[in-house]
Amino acid sequence: MTATLEHRLPKSRQALQPGTIEARDFSFWYGKKQALNNISLIVPPSSVTALIGPSGCGKSTFLRSINRLNDLIPGIRHEGDLSLDGQSIFDKDLDVVALRQRVGMVFQRWNPFPKSIYDNVAYGARINGVTRSSELDEVVERSLRRAALWDEVKDRLRTSALGLSGGQQQRVCIARALANQPEVLLLDEPASALDPGSTQKIEELVYELKRELTIVIVTHNLQQAARASDHTAFFFSGQLVELGPTDQIFTRPREERTDAYITGRFG
Ligand SMILES: Nc1ncnc2c1ncn2[C@@H]1O[C@H](COP(=O)(O)OP(=O)(O)OP(=O)(O)O)[C@@H](O)[C@H]1O
Ligand SMILES: [Mg+2]
Repeated sequence: MTATLEHRLPKSRQALQPGTIEARDFSFWYGKKQALNNISLIVPPSSVTALIGPSGCGKSTFLRSINRLNDLIPGIRHEGDLSLDGQSIFDKDLDVVALRQRVGMVFQRWNPFPKSIYDNVAYGARINGVTRSSELDEVVERSLRRAALWDEVKDRLRTSALGLSGGQQQRVCIARALANQPEVLLLDEPASALDPGSTQKIEELVYELKRELTIVIVTHNLQQAARASDHTAFFFSGQLVELGPTDQIFTRPREERTDAYITGRFG
């Protein structure tokens, strides 16, 4: 752990606010391949943290670890710990389905279900046993509004989500995640396959949502990281090289490798 990170570790677990993610000496393997090496960091609530670094450095692995999506891959193992609000996400008492509702995730390739817009967004509430249509209507409207999509789709809620533009489908996926009222939203290159206009909408949305949520966003677009995030973590070869306020990382990086990456000398 570097000195720059030490001041970020809270003095006690009581200091943690809802939506705080903490990694302590977290390492991760796919079979024999080590993908993450001793990651220690804190992601504070109500903020946006960008993960940057060259392809294959472990950004997605780290993101997928936070809601235990890697569990589905055979042969994986980890050392160290990851916690949400002070509770280890590997606790044997922890309900993984509930964890994935508290920690929503959206991917580069939008993946709405081949269902109506309404059914996509109502999905999580129905799984949780909500059947009253007035209650479902409310969840759907609230979530679509929070995803800045309501006005565009309110007259076609019962049509297929697959008939929307890419940027709209991505916002359906964000609305679907928000319907579970998550504390954390993980975004893995959410705009890298979108046109500039749709990308801007996603960035504006991230800016709005961070008031209520902890957001971790992986991006290869350094301008996007600089614009949209409060903190930036630079990963390289499975290690966290540097984490700090975004303006410091982009203007006064402490590590030579960070400087080389942000100035385009590699990656
Ligand atoms: N399911 C898997 N099985 C085996 N190895 C994997 C698996 N997924 C990722 N890896 C390996 O783990 C390392 C980290 O991959 P990861 O996808 O986390 O990187 P990344 O930083 O997200 O890269 P990119 O920017 O290209 O998305 C890479 O060497 C990758 O090949
Ligand atoms: Mg990735």
